[in-house]
This record gives sequence, C-alpha cells and structure tokens, in this order.
Amino acid sequence: KSIEGTICVVDELKKIFTIAIESAYPDLEDPPVVITLSGNNPKFGDYQCNSAMPISQLLKAKNIQTNPREVGNNILIRTPSSPLIQKLEVAGAGFLNIYLNKLFVEHVLNSILRFGVKPPPVKRNRIVVDFSSPNIAKEMHVGHLRSTIIGDSICRVLEFLNHDVLRINHLGDWGTQFGMLIAHLQDKFPDYKTHSPPISDLQAFYKESKKRFDEDEDFKKRAYACVVELQSGHPDYTAAWKLICEVSRQEFQKVYDRLDIKIIDRGESFYQSRMDTVVKELKEKGLLEEDEGRLIMWGSTEQTGIPLTIVKSDGGYTYDTSDMATIKQRVEEENGERLIYVTDVGQYTHFATIEACARRAGILKDGQKIEHVGFGVVLGEDKKKFKTRSGDTIKLIDLMDEGLKRALDKLVEKGRDKVLTPEELKQAQEAVAYGCIKYADLSHNRINDYIFSFDKMLDDKGNTAVYLLYALTRIQSISRTAQVSFDTLMTEFEKSGIKLTHDAEWKLGKVLLRFPEVILKVTNDLYLHSLCEYLYEISSTFTEFYDKCYCVEKDKTGNVIKIFYERLMLCEVTARIMTKCFEILGIKTVSKM
Ligand code: ARG
Repeated sequence: KSIEGTICVVDELKKIFTIAIESAYPDLEDPPVVITLSGNNPKFGDYQCNSAMPISQLLKAKNIQTNPREVGNNILIRTPSSPLIQKLEVAGAGFLNIYLNKLFVEHVLNSILRFGVKPPPVKRNRIVVDFSSPNIAKEMHVGHLRSTIIGDSICRVLEFLNHDVLRINHLGDWGTQFGMLIAHLQDKFPDYKTHSPPISDLQAFYKESKKRFDEDEDFKKRAYACVVELQSGHPDYTAAWKLICEVSRQEFQKVYDRLDIKIIDRGESFYQSRMDTVVKELKEKGLLEEDEGRLIMWGSTEQTGIPLTIVKSDGGYTYDTSDMATIKQRVEEENGERLIYVTDVGQYTHFATIEACARRAGILKDGQKIEHVGFGVVLGEDKKKFKTRSGDTIKLIDLMDEGLKRALDKLVEKGRDKVLTPEELKQAQEAVAYGCIKYADLSHNRINDYIFSFDKMLDDKGNTAVYLLYALTRIQSISRTAQVSFDTLMTEFEKSGIKLTHDAEWKLGKVLLRFPEVILKVTNDLYLHSLCEYLYEISSTFTEFYDKCYCVEKDKTGNVIKIFYERLMLCEVTARIMTKCFEILGIKTVSKM
C-alpha cells in the first residue's frame, strides 16, 4: 500500500497531464508537459499546466491551424479524473489552472502524522560523494569547510531517499610535498621511529620545511630523494609519511566531530597502484601523446580545451592521473552510478576534462556521468578573501570557537540563560553555533561567492538558522503549553484527522504537501538553497496561520477554555517536516532554546 505522505504532487500531475496531452495529440512526439506552481495569486489555482502554448506552436509548424486556448480546452476535456484535482479551468492563452483537492491534501498530512515523514520512493542507486578532501599538512581552509558542509548535506538527502551512498574523503595525502616534510622530520625528530614526534602545529611544521626547501639547495635535494624512497615503499619513509598523515587526520577529525560529519578516509595514496594500471591502459589504447617530455591526454579528438597531464617529464604522476585512477576505481570497483565531486568552482574545468577523458577511454559508459558540485569562494565582510586580521588563514577550530562564543552571547542577550538549565543552554549554544555556520553556507546559491558574517548568520530575523530554530521550538511548545500530550493528540487524531477549514490552514497544508517535490528537486540538481528557502517558507506560512487561527483559546486570566486539536495536529506535521529539513541540512534541533 502506498503511503500518501510520499507523493510528489508535481510528478503526479505530470503523469495525469501526459495522459491528457497524448490522447489529445497522439501525433506529437514527446509533447512538452509543463507543470509549475501557480505562485501567490489564488486566482490561478495551485499549480498550472502550461503546455498549450508550446503545443500550439508545434502544431502550427505542422500546418495545423489552432490557438493556445483551443489546445488548453482540448487538454482539459481529456484530463482523467484524479483524487488530487478539485477543479480545472482554462485561463488566458490556454493556461490550465489546477486546484488541488482538499480531501487529498488532508489525507497526505494525516498520513505524515500516522507514519512520519517518509521519503518519496525512488530507484536505489549507488552514489559516490567525494567531499571535504583537505590536504595533509596544509591547512584545512574555509573552502574545505564549504565542501564539508555541502557534501555532508548532499549525502544526507541521498541517504534519506535510501540511496547507497559512499562518503569519501579524498585526502591530499600523496605528492612531492611529503619529501620535504619527511626530510624535515628526520632532522627535527631523529628518533621519530620510536617516539611519536610532538608536532602540535603541523601548519607551522609545513611552513618551516617549505622555507628550508626554498632556501637550502642541499635540503631540496634530500627532499627529492625522500620522495623517491617513499614512492618505492621504503619502510622508514612510509612510517614517517604515516606519522605526518596521522597528525593531520587528528586535526581534521576535530572539525568533523564538532560538525557531526561522517566520512571515510580514502586519500590519493590509495590509488598508487591503480595509477600505474590506468596509465598502462591509456597507453595501450593509444590515447596518450608526447608533449615536451610529458604524456598528455585530450578529452576529445578535436583537441579542444586543455589536456590532462598523465605522466610528468620526470615520470611522476599528477592530480590528473590520480583522478583518472579514482574515476576508474569508483565505476569499476565501487559500481558507482552517480559520481559526485564537491569542490570550488575553480576545479570545474579539471572535472570536465576528467569526464571527457574517462569517456574517451571507455571508463565512463553511456548514462554514467560526473557531477561536479561547484561552489564559490568565502569572502570576509570586507568582500576580500577571508583571512585573519594579520592576513593568515583562519583555522577552522578557531572559527568554530568564535561561533560558540557568539552563539552564547546571543542567547544571553535574549535572556535565555535565565530560563534554560545549563545543559539546555549548552545544547542550544551548540545547535546555534554550528547550525548558523552550516545554514549560512547552505542557504546561499552555492555557485556564488559568499560573505562569511557571524553578525548576519546570528540575526534572529530573516532566513537564518537562529530564526528557524526558534520558530521550530515555538511550534513544538504549543502543545506543551496547552498540556496536550502526544498520546492525547493521537487519540483525538483517531476521532478526526486534520481538517483544513480556514484559508490559512489550507495555505499551510499546501506548502507542507510540497516536501517530496522539494526533496526530489534537490537530489537532482544538488542545490541545497532551495531546501532552505522551503524551510523558510514553511516557517513564514506557519506564522501567518498562527496569527489567524487559535490553536488554544484562553480566557483573560490565562486559563485554557478550548483546544483546537486539529490545529495542534497541523502544528505537529509542520514541526516534523521542519525537523526533517534540519536533519537533511545537518543541523541539530533543540526542543528548548
Ligand atoms: N584535495 C583537493 C583540494 O584541496 C580536493 C580533492 C577533490 N577530489 C578529487 N577527487 N579531486 O583542492
């Protein structure tokens, strides 16, 4: 039995109108079925089918004389009856206004109350999401923070739909920088093999070794020699490399723990032998070309764009080589059907070229593709690159500490420290701090650069995490203050489900109905800001409802005289959907703040 709460209305309408259009115009191949939301004017119904105009153009091209209005009428009379639709009408130039059936919407909301917020059913896919992916010994910067936040949320939405998701941290743990790091380690901590070196600040350690590398020729030579030893698998060098990676990993883990991010470490080094294999394969297929001592590969035979460097003139491999090996591994060993990469937009060309080359080499088959989820750079409030006052890169842990401090200030400013227990206050502080950092990132169209501003993200008005978290706690407290337990609510529910009588209830109900639609859109285009906009829309529509409709009526002395259970049920469904949205955004909610 299908659970109504999972129905994606726009897709259902598409099915219905496809039937109507195909029966009205059987000779048209693939006629356009355009269903959109009607917008804010109730005059135009809830959804619209806007196919009449393009269809009449197609017909004209076939010399069939008609006009959009006639086409609209033709579609209308062939639309099969459906429990979703209350009324249909043709307006203007053939637009079909679709009015949803109230009984159906109530039904959907009731099923959410009964079964919880369930995902719309989709075919289960194996999906590899490559995100976060900082580089060992270098700082994990705000760009990696964006990748971490966006990538995690993408995984969460895909996991909600029950996809088989592999979360991969493609750590930059291989490359020539390890030569100088190992050489420096040998000098600074000669007994590193027996005693774990106390490197507390790996960034400083990196800077020191880089300085020596740039200034000292002998050191440079040794560093290169170390790379050769490491790549040939010498145990001492491998041990040194592992040590350095471990220090970095522990630092990264602190960030992941705070943000509640689950991810599997599988860095570039994992692909060592696979790089040999893929290079051999590309050579055998005759896809590599010599270019000033290097071996390069073009994405197309026309040799447009920029080629990949597969083997350097010194015989070494590059970032390109590792990504060719990576894509092969993900397709052939992991059976990945969708390959998602979350990095800054600057790597767009890199991934486009990798995709083209992988396709040329037959690694990517028809229907398989790379999805590059690009994002803009993080700017400071001065619209310049986000740095500390002294011009250094901001350490993510420091950033989060500041978030915690500011979140607490905010809560104290609102006098919450006087109402909440210390434990509740701490939970609220963490929810606000990490929630606001994540939400600010996710609520902006990721393609754009975005300005990091604690002041803006901690604003308690507007589309911010603070505002929305407050809104949710307020909704959840309505039943609590009316002293209606969940059991009582469900007993009332069995007597009569949700009824959307008042206009404001009806409006809220229709917004809540759109949850599956929003989720499916996000899983397709991987733009999370539409989920944030939806969350904000729920909250503002709820406010409108709450202003107009009593949920609990009290007398002058504050005694409860009437409880509107059906409205409390609507509050409950609203809270559940909002909670699910927060969950997908990776934001912890609290019941009090
Ligand atoms: N480590 C890279 C960076 O910091 C990101 C890696 C992204 N993933 C990949 N498969 N290339 O820019």
